[in-house]
Amino acid sequence: MKHALKITLLASLFVGCAGAANADDQTTLNDAARQTAGGLLKTLGGELKAALASGGAVEAISVCKEKAPRIAAEAARKTGFAIKRVSPKNRNPKGVPDAWESAALASLEARLAAGEKPETLDMSAVVDTPEGKVFRYAKALPTQPLCLSCHGTPDQLSPEVKAKLSTEYPDDKAVGYSVGMIRGVLSIKKAM
Ligand code: HEC
Repeated sequence: MKHALKITLLASLFVGCAGAANADDQTTLNDAARQTAGGLLKTLGGELKAALASGGAVEAISVCKEKAPRIAAEAARKTGFAIKRVSPKNRNPKGVPDAWESAALASLEARLAAGEKPETLDMSAVVDTPEGKVFRYAKALPTQPLCLSCHGTPDQLSPEVKAKLSTEYPDDKAVGYSVGMIRGVLSIKKAM
């Protein structure tokens, strides 16, 4: 009897600790994901600006095509996070959002409509999956003036950009955006 009580106590202690550890993990992971996303966007934004200034939009397409995944892969290697960019109107055929990302985007859109600033919109969650708990994070990628030469309305895209995009991305859906709209999300995940 005494023994059984001890086991129950130990078990509840253990459960209690596990709960606390998970809460901590989410906060820690959220901070790390935010930092990773911030650093990544700064690097990518800098590369994009430099490429646009030196070679124009046609040249800068390669920054988005080759450098963006490379910068993300480098950050992934350093942090252990899986990192990708997704959008319901994707340009890269692999950029299709999964169920969690679609739901996250809908809630970020709702917060944008309610008056939050697009630059600070992000969210995270711990999701139960058959493989265990997974930390998920999504940051809104707002359309800025700098994005319009490749994601704006058709009249904002030069004939050269249109030609290059239609060769490299025949199923491109990522046009028609205006400043302030959410172009997509930076999605980060990690098994816990
Ligand atoms: C020089 C052209 C160019 C500019 C400027 C540009 N992009 Fe892109 N963007 C692209 C290309 C090309 C891709 C596809 C990259 C790939 O193959 O993964 C892309 C992909 C994306 C994706 C991934 C989802 C998808 O549609 O495939 C997001 C999100 C995105 N861009 C957001 C932005 C934002 C936000 C800006 C402005 C800060 C921006 N882009 C500026 C050309 C551009």
